[in-house]
Amino acid sequence: MDIWIDSVNTPNIQKAVRLGFLSGVTTNPTLISESNENFEDILKGLLHHQEGPVAVQVVSSNTADMVQEGQNLFSYSTRIIVKVPITKNGLEAIHLLGRQGIPTMATVVFTPHQALMAALADADYIAPYIGRIENSGADPWMVLTAMAQILKNYKFKTQILGASIKTVEHAAKCAEIGISGITVRDEIFEKLIEDNPLTAQCVNKFAEDWKNVNTPLFA
Ligand code: E4P
Repeated sequence: MDIWIDSVNTPNIQKAVRLGFLSGVTTNPTLISESNENFEDILKGLLHHQEGPVAVQVVSSNTADMVQEGQNLFSYSTRIIVKVPITKNGLEAIHLLGRQGIPTMATVVFTPHQALMAALADADYIAPYIGRIENSGADPWMVLTAMAQILKNYKFKTQILGASIKTVEHAAKCAEIGISGITVRDEIFEKLIEDNPLTAQCVNKFAEDWKNVNTPLFA
């Protein structure tokens, strides 16, 4: 399973790169606006500090402007994946961008039928909002399983990138049901790599016990 980071924070992205399992970066208008940095500087940094794709969202609501923004982003870097909210106009934009060979990620996806329509429109990725699906009262795992089955039934190229992951259990459940990738916020990324207290306890005991052993090999 691929792990992307949903972040514009350079040190966190660098840390993920050092650990060796970062597949790409996602952003959204809120993350970019909260960073208070210049948009192009952010983009430059995200492209510079890791080698994977960077998903950047269009902000217009009409098809023509979404397509124009997508084209601008893709001319800025061919490593940019154009994130398009799955509205009626967004679906058309995904289709038009796809015909120009511009990769897209249908975002803010809540239901299996939206996933079907995004796949039919030729989206490269769909980003279902797991935490927000759960908060709405629906079962995100039934929703994701249905999405995965739809994509498999018709051999769509579209991949699921689980988004709005709120807990490490969400991340593990995505892996359990075979979702191809997830994107996680900085705080979830930290939790995925932090020491489990039981692991730490055993490791401390091993270190204590090892004090009785003398070997030049571990000198
Ligand atoms: C994904 O690409 C989105 O940026 C992100 O996961 C949004 O979810 P959240 O706002 O619920 O964290």
